[in-house]
Amino acid sequence: MATHPKTAEEAAAILARGQVCALPTETVYGLAADATNWAAVGQIFSTKKRPRFNPLIVHVLDAAKAVDVVQLDNCAARLMEAFWPGPLTIVLPSAAHSRVAKNASGGLSTLAVRSPAHPLFRAVLEDWNSPIVAPSANRSGRLSPTTAAHVIEEFGGGVPVLDGGPCEAGVESTIVSLTNSRPTLLRPGAIPAEKIEAALGHPLLAPGGGIEAPGMMTSHYAPTARVRLNAKEAQENEVLLGFGGTPEATLDLSPDGDLSEAAANLFAYLRRLDALGRPIAVAPIPDKGLGRAINDRLRRAAAER
Ligand code: TXA
Ligand code: MG
Repeated sequence: MATHPKTAEEAAAILARGQVCALPTETVYGLAADATNWAAVGQIFSTKKRPRFNPLIVHVLDAAKAVDVVQLDNCAARLMEAFWPGPLTIVLPSAAHSRVAKNASGGLSTLAVRSPAHPLFRAVLEDWNSPIVAPSANRSGRLSPTTAAHVIEEFGGGVPVLDGGPCEAGVESTIVSLTNSRPTLLRPGAIPAEKIEAALGHPLLAPGGGIEAPGMMTSHYAPTARVRLNAKEAQENEVLLGFGGTPEATLDLSPDGDLSEAAANLFAYLRRLDALGRPIAVAPIPDKGLGRAINDRLRRAAAER
């Protein structure tokens, strides 16, 4: 059983020893390690059983620290100014002088960077003063954790966790790639694409062909139970995950139809329903704003495995 850190300083000390530690972010809990330590980065992949080709996000304090690891252009600077700190991850060419371990980016010449808003994660970054890799703190392919208890459940208590309470956003960061001819949305997330498009002054491209974020395999975020989408009501043995006051819902993501509240509850409610051991039916969720991120996660949870 791991001994859990009580403070950001204790968590930073675990990272400094080259070990992994789960940290709270405003989106989901991350499994953190020193981005410059090859062995520590390797431990993330083995702890999560994550395929080695699936690159990690590097977390930095701000744009001034981002230049240590990636090459910024005007567009990147504009997005960082508008949305950092916060749940926007930007994929950029790696900086030639970057000290980030090569296994963090799965051998790619690009790197995903983000500046988390959670005060505890920021306190660790300040104390540690070095970039931190942190994928979601779940076993690969499973539901992302939004509380410290979820992380403990995922790894059977073997991973130390800095408890920062429940995550505010509840879905992962939005990922935009600036390595194509035009800014491309790789993953819908906690910042609605519409807001990013408004800041850029033009639409984001949708990823074409292949899987451009190597981690966006179709089946992902998967509970043990079968998941059926756009359900009007539960059938036979199913439990029902509602939205906006769905009649006879087992749990309702937001009785008032608030998409932020629904996103914050999404993974926790899927976990609770999964524990009932019955198939899960999910009511329709509007496909706009944060609803796009929620529907993306639900489609992956429902995909063929
Ligand atoms: O909100 C978040 O982003 C959370 C918290 C912990 O920060 N982190 C997170 O990390 O969701 P993870 O590893 O679960 O998802 C990262 C995604 C993966 O789909 C990965 O393939 C993609 O980012 N990614 C990372 N580096 C990339 C790169 N260089 N090019 C394209 N996609 C990349
Ligand atoms: Mg993940």
